[in-house]
Amino acid sequence: MAVSRSWLARRTEGFTESVIREMTRLNAVHGGINLAQGFPDFPAPAEIKEAAKRAIDADINQYAITWGAPALRMALASTYADLYGMKVDPDTMITTTCGSTEAMVSTLLAIVDPGDEVVVLEPFYENYGPDAAICGATPVFVPLRGPELTFDRDELARAFGPRTKAIIVNTPNNPSGRVFTRDELVFIAELCQKHDAIAVTDEIYEHIKYTGPHIPIATLEGMAERTVTISGASKTFSVTGWRVGWIIAPPALSAGIRKVHDFVTVGAPAPLQEAVAAALSLGRPYYDKLSHDYRVRRDLLVGALERAGFTPRSPEGAYYVLCDIGRFGFPDDVAFARWLVADVGVAGVPGSSFFSRPELGRTTIRFTFCKTAALLNEAAERLAETETRARKRAV
Ligand SMILES: Cc1ncc(COP(=O)(O)O)c(C=O)c1O
Repeated sequence: MAVSRSWLARRTEGFTESVIREMTRLNAVHGGINLAQGFPDFPAPAEIKEAAKRAIDADINQYAITWGAPALRMALASTYADLYGMKVDPDTMITTTCGSTEAMVSTLLAIVDPGDEVVVLEPFYENYGPDAAICGATPVFVPLRGPELTFDRDELARAFGPRTKAIIVNTPNNPSGRVFTRDELVFIAELCQKHDAIAVTDEIYEHIKYTGPHIPIATLEGMAERTVTISGASKTFSVTGWRVGWIIAPPALSAGIRKVHDFVTVGAPAPLQEAVAAALSLGRPYYDKLSHDYRVRRDLLVGALERAGFTPRSPEGAYYVLCDIGRFGFPDDVAFARWLVADVGVAGVPGSSFFSRPELGRTTIRFTFCKTAALLNEAAERLAETETRARKRAV
């Protein structure tokens, strides 16, 4: 039976299938190396796996408290105090969620009315557009410009207006690799205060950074009361399939967000919340090693890309490299990415997926380096062929 178009709500019309998944599929067809999708191919720390097994053996199998298992909220409160000096009440200010993905949607559903505007810096993580659409919000995009990928202050100031409800700030950033400086964050904070807007921050890569400290916007003057801080276990503990994330927000905001979260998911996986609580005690030495190991992988991939004729921008944080592909002479990024996976055997994500207007990403591709050195070395060998093969194709 044919499906009637009118069965689907209008809000789904703008949703396209994730290009990342398309690249993953093509990669499987061509037996390529998948540097498209951002999930690690190495094991999670033994401590977190053991803690999960203990929790299941202890029959922690039923719903946790909807806003989070007490052990995890306590562990998060002391983590935020230790690392950032943030005073977070575990009873009223923390909500644990099914990944930071759910955290972002539940937050926006709780704070945004249809017609409100949400400022988004671009290139952006591809969920933010649909997140805004689900809430009926209008995203207002502001580009990061130049080789340094910074925002123009006047342009950002102009994006704020009477309808602005929030700005989404993702630092360290996917896909650009930017870690916003204190100066940049202070400027954003001042705009939020001037326009009575909320900063919703996606800090999922907070422990994967190569320069300077991670600065949660909530720690800037006057921002604790108007910031929703989102993070999670996926990237820090290499457990993207566990779906454990969290939200730190002032009590009044948390109360609204918790209601949405309750009706949407009831709660995050109970035994895995216990495991993440245990893993948080690994603390600073673990985070330092995580960043160190990712720095080695970053340098390996960035070096290989440079030698292969790409123009990569070495990231300050997160585990992605955006590269310029202009010199290979392809009509656009999608054509290049499809050719690369089929002919060279390495999958990346066409840059246009990260922009509101595809033409802005026409000469870029994103690769991830959350892979073992062995796989990255193999990718490097294949990428070295790019220029020769591209030239043959052009003849
Ligand atoms: C910027 C950003 N936010 C959120 C997520 C999703 O995180 P989670 O697994 O916690 O839902 C990703 C995953 O790639 C990401 O890059």
